[in-house]
Amino acid sequence: MEKSVVINDIRNVLVDGIRLAYVRSFGCQLNVSDGEKIKGLLKKAGYDFTEDEHQADIIILNTCAVRESAEDRVFGIIGSMKKLKEEKPSLIIGLAGCMTAQEHIREKIKKSYPQVDFVMGTSAINSLPELLLDCLRGKKFSADTGEYDDFSEQVEQVRESTFKASVPIMFGCNNFCTYCIVPYVRGRERSRRPEDIINEVHQLVEDGYKEIMLLGQNVNSYGNDLENGMSFPELLRELNKLDGDFIIRFMSSHPKDASRELIDTILGCEKVAKHLHLPVQSGSNTVLDRMNRRYTIEKYLETVDYIRRNNPDFSLTTDLIVGFPNETDEEFQATLELIKRVKYDNIYSFIYSRRTGTKAAEIIDTVPEDVKSRRMRELLEVQREISTENYKRFVGRKMRVLVDGVSKKRDGYVTGKSNEFIIAEFEGDRSLVGNFVEIEVTDAMNWAVTGKML
Ligand code: SAM
Ligand code: SF4
Ligand code: F3S
Repeated sequence: MEKSVVINDIRNVLVDGIRLAYVRSFGCQLNVSDGEKIKGLLKKAGYDFTEDEHQADIIILNTCAVRESAEDRVFGIIGSMKKLKEEKPSLIIGLAGCMTAQEHIREKIKKSYPQVDFVMGTSAINSLPELLLDCLRGKKFSADTGEYDDFSEQVEQVRESTFKASVPIMFGCNNFCTYCIVPYVRGRERSRRPEDIINEVHQLVEDGYKEIMLLGQNVNSYGNDLENGMSFPELLRELNKLDGDFIIRFMSSHPKDASRELIDTILGCEKVAKHLHLPVQSGSNTVLDRMNRRYTIEKYLETVDYIRRNNPDFSLTTDLIVGFPNETDEEFQATLELIKRVKYDNIYSFIYSRRTGTKAAEIIDTVPEDVKSRRMRELLEVQREISTENYKRFVGRKMRVLVDGVSKKRDGYVTGKSNEFIIAEFEGDRSLVGNFVEIEVTDAMNWAVTGKML
């Protein structure tokens, strides 16, 4: 059936005025971007939005499966929604996102959580109107976890921000790192057409967006699946040519594919942020091999050194996994050595979480949980010192910052991000949010720099 017909049918069922939807996305920015598409479809169907689930007529949880803790959290929330449903039987509860791609999760939902009315897979967002109509017409349970690859260009998003926009350039992942569930729940790599991306970014800049975040699980393999496509560096160069005062960011970048051409492009394009998120996962070659990461630390450091030789101020951040199965003390020490050597501005570290269906889940792990927690604390301690030391390089210098909110800690202060993705806090009022400002950095902490506006 035509989508517009289904949407009209929904509007006809919702006769008594506007209904409220509560959409909550978990996990990475790609998922948040999907949440914006879900909201786009709901808006078209006549829904308005609320931040309070008690007010909602429909609740959609857009889930993440990357770690067990993320899944547990969602199960906890669905459990607590049983009461909401008892109080308001017309309430519709839907589950979307990466958790829905796992058979055992779908079974568990069907068996133990009857309050869930529908399940919608990550590539089935376009089916939301049909699923919703089923629910509104009284069907007990609907599901669509089919794979369609035409969904990305059809949905107008309701964006979370009026000045920062996420733009997925590709979906899925081909890399199969042994710990990771993403390739299983998001499928193989599919790149969007360059002209669609360029048109979208052009429109966003016209609409006043100041920060464009290009998203993909490994943006470095963008375009490999397209006939007559563009490589990622080519795409960056095209976007850099667009008129307007805006900054281009991207993530993530797999180190095995971080080429000289990519680095030269970042260095040479004035609109591309001088920051690279280059997830290393471990400082030990033996662990990297067990993770199937397909690079060595020596190769990784060649990339880092090339960047630093060309721009000593360039900001590097990374992801690290602590306690990969059977990680030895020496292997963990190699990670500490690596972060001291690279001096990242920031790290995102996670304790390994076993994911059913992945290769690493088959390994019998002998590292006790308290050892993993101790390693994590040690890693964070070392990084705190590195960040404080690093941020001192900006003291006394000017910094251009995109103001993104008011400070939660200090009245009369605002926060923002520098080109290098470093948090800055300084005196200012709400009217600055969404604008670029110039500050002079006066001090450095372990999570941010402080300064005064010029
Ligand atoms: N595609 C990106 C990449 O390769 O860098 C990142 C994808 S993943 C959503 C984000 C981070 O989660 C990974 O870089 C990794 O550090 C972490 N992660 C993935 N699977 C994990 C697991 N099973 N346990 C702990 N952390 C995990
Ligand atoms: Fe997961 Fe590896 Fe793909 Fe990143 S590159 S999404 S860590 S499998
Ligand atoms: Fe989570 Fe799916 Fe992203 S598993 S991290 S929401 S791709």
